[in-house]
Amino acid sequence: MQLPEVELNIYNKNNPVEAKIVENRIVSKESSPNYVRHITFDVSGTDLVGRVCVGQSIGVMPPGEDEKGRPHKMRLYSVSSPSGGENGNPALISTTVKRTIEEYEGKIYLGVASNYLADLKPGDSVMLAGPSGKRFLLPEKKESYNYLFFATGTGIAPFRGMMLDLIRSGCSGSVALLFGCSYRTDLLYPDLFGEMEKDHPNVHYLTAVSREDRRADGSKKYVQTLLEDQRDLLQPILEQDNTLIYICGLKGMETGIYRELLRMGLPGYLEWKKDAPEPESLESTLKTLTDSELKKQIRTTERVFEEVY
Ligand code: A2P
Repeated sequence: MQLPEVELNIYNKNNPVEAKIVENRIVSKESSPNYVRHITFDVSGTDLVGRVCVGQSIGVMPPGEDEKGRPHKMRLYSVSSPSGGENGNPALISTTVKRTIEEYEGKIYLGVASNYLADLKPGDSVMLAGPSGKRFLLPEKKESYNYLFFATGTGIAPFRGMMLDLIRSGCSGSVALLFGCSYRTDLLYPDLFGEMEKDHPNVHYLTAVSREDRRADGSKKYVQTLLEDQRDLLQPILEQDNTLIYICGLKGMETGIYRELLRMGLPGYLEWKKDAPEPESLESTLKTLTDSELKKQIRTTERVFEEVY
């Protein structure tokens, strides 16, 4: 499988470029305690036009200095617009940003870049760098594959663009999005994915609302548990050797997904670095190994793409 050649660091943190905000809309529900926004930059007149690919990130330079008087560091945000640009306009690049608000020892901390971006209004300027990333991409012949996209929270960003790209390219393979969030109010772009599923029989939109939905045994639903709960749909897709898996979001879901894939006994996605356990001892091995031990023993193949944080 061939990944496309993409542009890298047309601009960098020492040489950023000015872009204008054209849209900044909230995409989480009004009743959600979280604030997630879809933010679109106009990069007209810069060398970024038409040269940022979905799966890549752009760098945002928040103005000002930290408490030690040093300029704020650049932060990377995943692009959520399709490769041809938002609404087919190659000068428009979008991202999906959640305000970071944390409490530590009784004090509230606001994430510098996410809150800066969330406060910007159409017409405001922002300094950008990038693009960066050359591995978390759709393959060259993207329409020739099936896809399972696993996302939690704003990990959805690249998959919004990728799914728009795949639909535009006429991909007829199966495309399943497995999205996890805490509450139903935190489903991101549900209308877009619902429409895609309605209009395209090859698209499947599956959600795991961890603090509301329960599995048959009463346990929490997570993106990885969908593999078991939706096995009739997903196993036949995963058994095809032109299926690719993409994982984006919380670090913890990685090993959760590995465990389910190993249980399903599907070849082609994961390899044991040393000897694989016998099938009859697989379950006890999985129970014994901690997440970090499992990660050390497993290697993903070129059919698995990950961006976790
Ligand atoms: P929970 O926090 O209920 O355990 P968000 O970014 O909107 O907070 O969503 C993150 C989602 O990922 C939540 O549903 C969260 O569930 C879930 N999550 C947390 N840990 C894991 C994990 N190890 N594997 C998969 N999903 C996870």
